[in-house]
Amino acid sequence: MRILLGISLVLGLSQCSNPQEYLPEPHPIDVKADLDEAAQIGEFLFSSPMLSLDSTISCSSCHIPQFAFADSARVSSGVHAQAGFRNSPSLFNVAYKKHFFAEGGVEGLERATLAPMLTNFEMSLQAPELMSRIASNETLHSNFVEVFGEDYDYAHVVRALVAYQFTLRSTDSKYDRIMMNVETPDSLWLAGKELFESDRLDCSRCHAGPLQRDTLYHDLGLPTDTVIEGGPDYGRGRLTHNPEDFFHFPTPSLRNVELTGPYMHDGSIPTLDSVIRFYEAGGGPRETNSLRVSFELNDREREALMAFLTSLTGEEARKLNLSGN
Ligand code: HEC
Ligand code: HEC
Repeated sequence: MRILLGISLVLGLSQCSNPQEYLPEPHPIDVKADLDEAAQIGEFLFSSPMLSLDSTISCSSCHIPQFAFADSARVSSGVHAQAGFRNSPSLFNVAYKKHFFAEGGVEGLERATLAPMLTNFEMSLQAPELMSRIASNETLHSNFVEVFGEDYDYAHVVRALVAYQFTLRSTDSKYDRIMMNVETPDSLWLAGKELFESDRLDCSRCHAGPLQRDTLYHDLGLPTDTVIEGGPDYGRGRLTHNPEDFFHFPTPSLRNVELTGPYMHDGSIPTLDSVIRFYEAGGGPRETNSLRVSFELNDREREALMAFLTSLTGEEARKLNLSGN
C-alpha cells in the first residue's frame, strides 16, 4: 500500500502542478530532513500502537485510513478505553490548515501532532518512554539514524508524523477534474452545485472555495449535552471565554464528506442525508445559531445536492475505503 500511496501522491501533486489556480498554498512545514523519507517513517509511526502508553492505540485507531482518516465511531476511545469528547476529524488536507482542533487554539501541524501524543485520554505516552521503545526497535532506530542523524530525539518523532500528515492530500476528486477542465460536468452535478451556492440553501457562505470551508467558527444550534470538565462543550468559547463564541465550531472541509460520518464535532448526526435534513430544518434546536435559512428540497434536488457533495470524494480516499484499510 505504501508504494501505491506514494505513486498516487506524486500523480496527485503533478496533476495539480497548477493548483494555485484553485487550491491555496499549503502552510509550509520544516522537518529538517528529506520530506519523503521523514514521511515514510511517519507513516509507520502513525499506525503503530507503540506510541500509546498501553500499546493498544495508534493514530490510525481514530484517524482510520478507510474513512478518509476520520473515525466511524461517534467519539473515539483512547488508552484504557477512555472516551474522548469529540468526533475525530479527517486528516486529509491538514497541510492547508493553520489553526487546529475545535477551539482553533493550536497553531501549526507540529503542535497539533504533539497534543494527541501526550493527551491522557488519547495516547498518554511521555517522551522518554517512547524514545526507549524506538531505540529498542532495530529497524526503526536505524531508519531514524539514517533520516535524522545519530542524535535524533523526540522532536524528530513529531516531525516524521508531521511530514506524513503533510503528504495526506486529497485533491483527486470528480470536483477537481471538473475544476481542471478534464471532465465535463453532468446536469445533476451542475444542479447540485447551483443549489449548494444558492441563497436559498446558503451552504457556500461557509463551505467556500476548493476546500469547501471558511476559517471561521459558527453555531449551528446543535444540542449541548457533551460534558467536558463539568460543563458543556463551548467549542471556540473554551479558548476565548467570550460568550459570543460559545458553541461556535470551525467549518469543516467537505472533501470526502461521503466517507467521514458520523458528522459534526460531536458525531451527533449519523448520515449525510440526515445532515441535509438538519439544514432543511434550519439547524439544531437552540435559537442562538448562525444559520439564516430553512428550506425544503424535492427528491430531484436532494439527489442533486448529494451528487455534488459526493463529487468531493477523492479517488485515493475511495480506494482506501474500498480496500478496507
Ligand atoms: C483516541 C482517538 C485519537 C487518537 C489516538 C489520535 N487522535 Fe487526532 N484527533 C482526535 C480527535 C477527537 C480530534 C478532534 C479534537 C478536537 O477538535 O478537540 C483530533 C484532532 C487531530 C488533529 C487536528 C485536526 C484538525 O483539523 O483540527 C490532528 C492534526 C490530529 N488529531 C493528529 C493525530 C495524530 C498525529 C495522532 C497520533 C499521534 C492522533 N491524532 C491520535 C482523536 C484522536
Ligand atoms: C453558517 C455557516 C454554515 C452554513 C451556512 C452551512 N454550514 Fe455546514 N457546517 C458548518 C459548521 C460550523 C459545521 C461543523 C459544526 C460542528 O462541528 O458542530 C458544518 C458541518 C457540515 C457537515 C458535516 C461535516 C463533518 O465532517 O462533520 C456537512 C455535510 C455540511 N456542513 C454541509 C452543509 C450544507 C449542505 C449546507 C447548506 C445546506 C451547509 N453545510 C451550510 C457551517 C455551515
